[in-house]
Amino acid sequence: MIISETEKFAPLQPLATPFVKGKVKFQNRVCFQPMEGCDCHEDGSPSELTIEKYIKAAKSGAGLVWFEANAVCPEGRTNPRQMMLTADNLPKFKELLSDMRAIAEKEMNISPVFILQLTHSGRQSIEPMIVYRNPVYEERRPVSDDAIVTDEYLDTLPIKYAESARLAIEAGFDGVDVKSCHGYLFQELLSGFTREGKYGGSFENRTKLYIDSIREVKEVIGDDYLLTTRLSVSDMIPKPYGFGTDEEGRLDFTEPDRLIEILCDEGISILNVTVGNPYYNPHVNRPYRQGGYVPPESADEGLARFEIIQRHIKEKFPSLTVIGSGVSYYRDDLISQSERMLREGICDVVGYGRVSLAYPMFYRDSLKGEFNAKKCCLACSKCTLLMRAHQVSGCAVFNEYYRDLYRRTCMNK
Ligand SMILES: Cc1cc2nc3c(=O)[nH]c(=O)nc-3n(C[C@H](O)[C@H](O)[C@H](O)COP(=O)(O)O)c2cc1C
Ligand code: SF4
Repeated sequence: MIISETEKFAPLQPLATPFVKGKVKFQNRVCFQPMEGCDCHEDGSPSELTIEKYIKAAKSGAGLVWFEANAVCPEGRTNPRQMMLTADNLPKFKELLSDMRAIAEKEMNISPVFILQLTHSGRQSIEPMIVYRNPVYEERRPVSDDAIVTDEYLDTLPIKYAESARLAIEAGFDGVDVKSCHGYLFQELLSGFTREGKYGGSFENRTKLYIDSIREVKEVIGDDYLLTTRLSVSDMIPKPYGFGTDEEGRLDFTEPDRLIEILCDEGISILNVTVGNPYYNPHVNRPYRQGGYVPPESADEGLARFEIIQRHIKEKFPSLTVIGSGVSYYRDDLISQSERMLREGICDVVGYGRVSLAYPMFYRDSLKGEFNAKKCCLACSKCTLLMRAHQVSGCAVFNEYYRDLYRRTCMNK
């Protein structure tokens, strides 16, 4: 792989090995995970800050860039600056993707794969839209029965996902992610045991909208584009208020296995594995090294859980391409742990979340033998605190702009 005449690279590592499975083709095993910046213009198009982040992703050498949560409708946005591709702002997305492709080609000699994450934020929308009354969540964010979405409203969503997917392909994305994770609408539906009507109660009802939307999206994008999903395999919240968990809150694969089998039958080729709900058990979703939050488990337990889940899915569903998550914690060991995971077959591609904000050039530097652990993410989650403070989000430790913003808006509060 050639970057430029002046830069030299170390021999191929597992991370740098191309991945090919059917129509899934990546030039290396590095994925930049979706990281919401809450920094788009109010019309949902990328702002200067959004563009800056994605241009860095293009320069990083990652073979797969998984774009952040993109709302399929205005009422499904978490904040007024959430990404939202529409017919009106399509040219701005086209321009960004074309610039990214040109830069990746010029600087890294690669053609990365771009996936757009399609979402409805449900309970976390600006005006909460919930599936059922969940006392576990509502302790922190109270809502009333008025926030429960009707079946008639839910019926309208598959078409909205399909329309966003159509626009995504027109904008130049290689595929889309029908997202079901982190407690947002589709994920909450999966634990709608107590909801009545056609979207609640039985396994078939709770998974119906997710599957209907995948079908609708597939109809629009056809076989030439990638149909993918990011799934919280378990909420790690006791049943009946969480999915993929028993009454004691322990991981239970019974329903996730059933669901993933259906996802495979419906044509999902890539499963981006995640776990937990960042609004309820953030340590499950992103193991902590430091920060004000004191997790009730060690980071090792969280990291082991990720591996158990990924390994299970890889073994049980060999047709899927599995993207791993939750590795930013590793810091000095980031590259060696990633390579171990690939060698041991825990995942096919390693997904990087927080570290992609802290040190976007980590992979490019590692190729040159210049990986600098001191620039790696501290796993402190100040970037999330910026979001929770209704600010734009980025690395509040290593990026001066966000560091200053964090000082002004989050400290002493
Ligand atoms: C600030 C921030 C924004 C995030 N935005 C998204 C998002 O838009 N979509 C998504 O699926 N996950 C999102 N995540 C979760 C990450 O993609 C990732 O799964 C998580 O941070 C754990 O991986 P890590 O240890 O590499 O950070 C976000 C996380 C953070 C901290
Ligand atoms: S603020 Fe920076 S260092 Fe802290 S978790 Fe976020 S990306 Fe990592």
